[in-house]
Amino acid sequence: MMNNKIEIAEKSFWVGKLDDRPVPFHRLILEKGTTYNSYLLETEKPTLIDTVDIAFGGEFVKKLSEGFDLNLLKYVVINHVEPDHAGALPALMNKAKNAVIVTTEKAKELLNGMFKLHNREYLIVKDGDTLDIGGKTLKFFETPYLHTEETMITYSVEDKILYPCDIFSTHIAAYELFNDLAKEDITQDFKVYYQLIMGPHRTYVREMLDKLKDIEINTIAPSHGFILRDNAKMFIDLYEEMSLKDTYGKKALILFSSMTGNTGKLANDIYEGLTDSGIETRIVNVKSSSIDTVKEMAAESDMIAIGSSTRYGDMIGNIEDYIKEIVSMDLSGKYGFAFGSYGWSGEAIEIINDYLRQSNIELLDSARIIKATGANEVSLPLRISFYSDNEKMAAINAGKTAAEFIA
Ligand code: FEO
Repeated sequence: MMNNKIEIAEKSFWVGKLDDRPVPFHRLILEKGTTYNSYLLETEKPTLIDTVDIAFGGEFVKKLSEGFDLNLLKYVVINHVEPDHAGALPALMNKAKNAVIVTTEKAKELLNGMFKLHNREYLIVKDGDTLDIGGKTLKFFETPYLHTEETMITYSVEDKILYPCDIFSTHIAAYELFNDLAKEDITQDFKVYYQLIMGPHRTYVREMLDKLKDIEINTIAPSHGFILRDNAKMFIDLYEEMSLKDTYGKKALILFSSMTGNTGKLANDIYEGLTDSGIETRIVNVKSSSIDTVKEMAAESDMIAIGSSTRYGDMIGNIEDYIKEIVSMDLSGKYGFAFGSYGWSGEAIEIINDYLRQSNIELLDSARIIKATGANEVSLPLRISFYSDNEKMAAINAGKTAAEFIA
């Protein structure tokens, strides 16, 4: 039987919930169960970091209130809004009348959508912001797409403790709580968790590791499984190693035809996303290359992205001649997707998608991406009305997400 409150550092306590049932999760059953780790920092401005699963909200608030006056709670930090961590927030805020929710702008939007917390005070934090909680300083790092758009990490500066929520977690009902007390080696469980949850977002894992490289981390206190107080660096190094999946020799081809230049800009953005992910990418405007040359490039490529502007409900230029040749090739084992900027209806993008669907290429579309990665913010085929900076990010992310399939 685990205590409800376990000290992890001075004035810092684990106050989570151990769930040793086989837990349904992302179409899997977690046979070893899990924990929902919440942390209470009893400083001059008491702060809670993340809550527990929605199923245990009432129990969590009741136990928390037994050893602590919830009216004194000043801040509730929400690193990630999925219900296994933010699920107890409504029950908590009901009792913690004076608490301010500390989170990212995107998370605020999601929390208000899920839990109707519009009337509560928020403190929106951005990458690098700090917060004095009276005796400790918290620093925040935005870690988008790890594994959802709104996620962030909280770092307790003086304690050198990282609170990364899902990141660096394991799905084990961790009775012993600390990794140095674990009865068996947790490395394999740690790796499996990474592969399931973080692996599809490994480009963002590398960005996250880059943000953390200059801070000293003695302990990682994630929100599932063991607190990593022994050899935290080894677990960070494992993420580094696993995120550097072998992209050596992986190639992509982006073929496009652009009327006003906007589809060309999208092609450049997709190029940026793919090359950032370590994929050797060639970008070809049909005006500047012969069909035979493009076929040779397609044959060598693991990913083929094809885009066109739309004019009079159709593709422009002679890109269709190129597409017909490409889809008549054996494209097995390759991935592909369509993209394009349009002014009115964007039929060209759908026509390209139809061509790709009729070939034996592995077609990337939104449904496939959601099922494989859980990322619902990447939409393929990529259909962009005109072009702006917002679309730029969507196109870069499309490139990064597509890269995950071939890395
Ligand atoms: Fe543990 Fe993304 O929730």
